Amino acid sequence: MVTESLTVRDNRTGVEYDIPITDGTIRAADLGKIKAADPANNEEGPGLAVYDPGFVNTASCRSSVTYIDGDKGILEYRGYPIEQLAENSNFLEVSYLLVHGALPTKEEYDAWVHEITYHTFVHENIKEFMQGFRYDAHPMGMLMASVGAMSTFYPDAANISDPDNRRLQIIRLIAKMPTLGAWAFRHAQGKPYVYPDNDLSYTGNFLSMLFKMSESKYAPDERIEKALDTLFILHADHEQNASANAVRSVGSTQVDPYSSVAAGVGALFGPLHGGANEAVLRMLRRIGKVENIPAFIEGVKAGNERLMGFGHRVYKNYDPRAKLIKQQAYNVFEVTGTNPLLDIAQELEKIALEDEYFVKRKLYPNVDFYSGLIYEALEFPPEMFTVLFAIGRTPGWLSQWLELVQDKEQKIARPKQIYTGERGLNFVPRDVRWA
Ligand code: ACO
Repeated sequence: MVTESLTVRDNRTGVEYDIPITDGTIRAADLGKIKAADPANNEEGPGLAVYDPGFVNTASCRSSVTYIDGDKGILEYRGYPIEQLAENSNFLEVSYLLVHGALPTKEEYDAWVHEITYHTFVHENIKEFMQGFRYDAHPMGMLMASVGAMSTFYPDAANISDPDNRRLQIIRLIAKMPTLGAWAFRHAQGKPYVYPDNDLSYTGNFLSMLFKMSESKYAPDERIEKALDTLFILHADHEQNASANAVRSVGSTQVDPYSSVAAGVGALFGPLHGGANEAVLRMLRRIGKVENIPAFIEGVKAGNERLMGFGHRVYKNYDPRAKLIKQQAYNVFEVTGTNPLLDIAQELEKIALEDEYFVKRKLYPNVDFYSGLIYEALEFPPEMFTVLFAIGRTPGWLSQWLELVQDKEQKIARPKQIYTGERGLNFVPRDVRWA
């Protein structure tokens, strides 16, 4: 029974419509029933559509993965606050939670960790494929291509209707992303690729594949391992963000999950999404010293540029992840020594949080504002920052994909347009046009 509804009067026709409201939304298809008569042609005319570039006020799915209250600065995965997960859990347990919807029992956890650990190796041909990239290839381009290429190594992944098959591909993807990411990193440095070490933790193994040189066994610093693991947790999902939307949009065609996740990596690459942390570092370097901040802020307010790492489509409060990342930054600097750009970042934050321009627009630091500083302290070049984000986001993308392929309401993602071009032109052949 419909208890809430919206009454709309179409002033073109004078007709009133009752449109049901469910979960604070109306169905766009219900608006499609609103049609203006076209007396000239004796037609009903097209149904009313919603124009929403960038989907700023359009829900594309029902989801039980991640909850965000942007005004209050709340982020929960499957109902658990991000602060508790960052403090008490680890990335693989959080991945299990996201994918399965509930925390694992001890047996489930052990089996999950074992399966992920024993799927970290990739086919040797993938290594050769990656070695074919130019020496200065951006690691995100390499990651996107190699994730996509995995669909050719696992053609069984196309069978997306089989739950066991889906689970296997999910395990493969979570397990192999660090291998691909680390190899993209080694490639740019001209260093040999390091094979996974299954004795180490997920994050410890990743550090080994990144930094191991001639030592027979790499021993990761526990504090760095913990900080990186926490960063992965904080990046693990963020409901219908641009890359999750890309994964869902491509996945809605029923293609295999490698192709969908490759689309997610591509979306994350953009400077307005995951590429922002790289942009933050460049910005901090360009500012150079604290004294230059006021002039920089004036430039931002004049609309000449953006304060990268600030602002968010959903958060109109301090991004809870930014707070936790700031804490981790101090832990990492204990090991690596401080980063001089931290002073500039902190001063920038202080000034921006007091400035009317930012206050009025509710612009606060987002997840990318401090993460780049940690990554730089760990000696990652800026090009690698988004790769780290992508590894952390993989379980989120896969949870969104899994939900999509099981959702009976979903259809191939295919928006409408408002056509603004010419109509019915007569083609004039080249010899006539150019005569
Ligand atoms: N610096 C200066 N002004 C800003 C910023 C910023 N970082 N972000 C938004 N604004 C201003 C806009 O100019 C606009 O002002 P106006 O109303 O006077 O025109 C107003 O705030 C609203 O901004 P929109 O661009 O409409 O907000 P939207 O939700 O579309 O954009 C986005 C969100 C893309 C994140 C934006 O805030 C931005 O570009 N931030 C910098 C890039 C960044 O840090 N991205 C990472 C986001 S987190 C993530 O993807 C992981």
